[in-house]
Amino acid sequence: MVEMMRWFDWNKCTLRKPNQVFLKFAASILLMGLAFRLFSSRSVEVSSDVETPFVASSLSPDTPIAATKQSPDEIPKAAQQIPQKEKCDIFTGDWIPTRSEPIYTNATCRYIEGHQNCMMNGRPDSGYLYWRWSPRDCELRQFEAENFLELMRNKSWALIGDSISRNYVQSLLCILSKVEEAIEVYHDEEYKSRRWNFPSYNFNVSVIWSPFLVKAATFEDMNGVSTSDIELHLDELDKKWVDQYRSLDYIIISGGKWFLKTAIYYMKNKIVGCHYCPGKNLTELGFEYAYRKALQLVLNFIATSTKHKGLVFFRTVTPDHFENGEWSNGGTCKRTVPFKEGEVSLKDVDATFRSIELEEFEKAAAVASKHGVKLRLFDTTQLSLLRPDGHPGPYRQFHPFANDRNAKVQNDCLHWCLPGPIDSWNDLVMEMVVNG
Ligand SMILES: *[C@@H]1O[C@H](CO)[C@@H](O)[C@H](O)[C@H]1NC(C)=O
Ligand SMILES: *[C@@H]1O[C@H](CO)[C@@H](O)[C@H](O)[C@H]1NC(C)=O
Ligand SMILES: *[C@@H]1O[C@H](CO)[C@@H](O)[C@H](O)[C@H]1NC(C)=O
Ligand SMILES: *[C@@H]1O[C@H](CO)[C@@H](O)[C@H](O)[C@H]1NC(C)=O
Repeated sequence: MVEMMRWFDWNKCTLRKPNQVFLKFAASILLMGLAFRLFSSRSVEVSSDVETPFVASSLSPDTPIAATKQSPDEIPKAAQQIPQKEKCDIFTGDWIPTRSEPIYTNATCRYIEGHQNCMMNGRPDSGYLYWRWSPRDCELRQFEAENFLELMRNKSWALIGDSISRNYVQSLLCILSKVEEAIEVYHDEEYKSRRWNFPSYNFNVSVIWSPFLVKAATFEDMNGVSTSDIELHLDELDKKWVDQYRSLDYIIISGGKWFLKTAIYYMKNKIVGCHYCPGKNLTELGFEYAYRKALQLVLNFIATSTKHKGLVFFRTVTPDHFENGEWSNGGTCKRTVPFKEGEVSLKDVDATFRSIELEEFEKAAAVASKHGVKLRLFDTTQLSLLRPDGHPGPYRQFHPFANDRNAKVQNDCLHWCLPGPIDSWNDLVMEMVVNG
């Protein structure tokens, strides 16, 4: 442990004062050899072909980073096998420039949904593709599709939630399809819940459409226009995911923005109130009430499901970046570079979602650990907040300005371009899978 701490300290130093610590750095590699043995049972074989950070190019060639390149068999492996669970918060960090090309493009991946296919839709800038998430206190290894699939033999994943989960599953499929094409083995009528199988690995990936996670009756037509208010049963889980729960090895589950919609709230099949339903003579309870109740139910179910042996990630809210309006009234997102920490803070609504999530997660995590249930926080809010540049904006449509440079088009400042910032979730997921 001591050796590893030291390695980290030195590693940080190397970026600032490279030449002075080079020898120490090299020596630490030898020490590390011993430490790895202790942990190697949990480690994964990862390719030594690691990405060289963009910053490396500005350093002189005799820096440790250059040294890393010279002995690829030794150092990258070392860096990748360090268990980082206790001392590194992988969700606190910065987006740093990279010269690495995206792992896939609109030409190499067929899973990208039209509305998020920014390249195909003619988004003119591409700078948003050249950033990678870098946790402040440790190295995040790059997702390695082959190793991931190897780990996932005979396993099943599910992403449960709304369209952000769908957005992410496409990123995962795009990256994995470099190794093997997935076969779609199930979809519901509207292609909202789907499952794919990777035949050589008997690995299943599902996306389960359940934007409220609790039982809900929605009355929307194909264009998303609602014909009646949503009815939410805050004391009944959505069978869509609960029925499959036991068979799933890995789950990323999340709630979020759908709770902002007009809805009538039910408990024990009786109306208890609503959110935004003027003229109905019902008590306005606010979306906060419903979100908290729903999460309590969901997280308590997870934390007490002792027969489930898998690993469950609860993902925090995804902030949007609409400026000068919202989705419905002309909001846009024209930025082309990430924010730095401190340049932006969460909007009130997202801060409310998040504080409910953190409070309820903390309570549930205590219950889960008592029961030996593996429940983890997948805290993507902050790293997402820093990426106003990663959304389709007007390029949710195919060449929106082809006929009229000033055309008024719907902007999307919530979902993510693919490829785009959401691809970094794969690196985080890999880290969490390996470190349990
Ligand atoms: C991908 O996007 C580029 C523009 O960046 C376009 O020229 C190309 O035709 C697109 N390819 C596909 C298969 O959509
Ligand atoms: C996966 O399942 C197959 C068939 O049930 C079995 O033969 C194989 O050993 C399993 N592989 C692993 C890694 O568990
Ligand atoms: C994957 O799904 C198929 C059916 O689509 C099923 O037969 C198989 O057992 C599943 N594999 C795992 C590992 O859950
Ligand atoms: C509104 O609800 C209250 C309590 O349920 C009831 O007493 C009252 O008559 C209702 N008002 C109208 C206008 O329906």
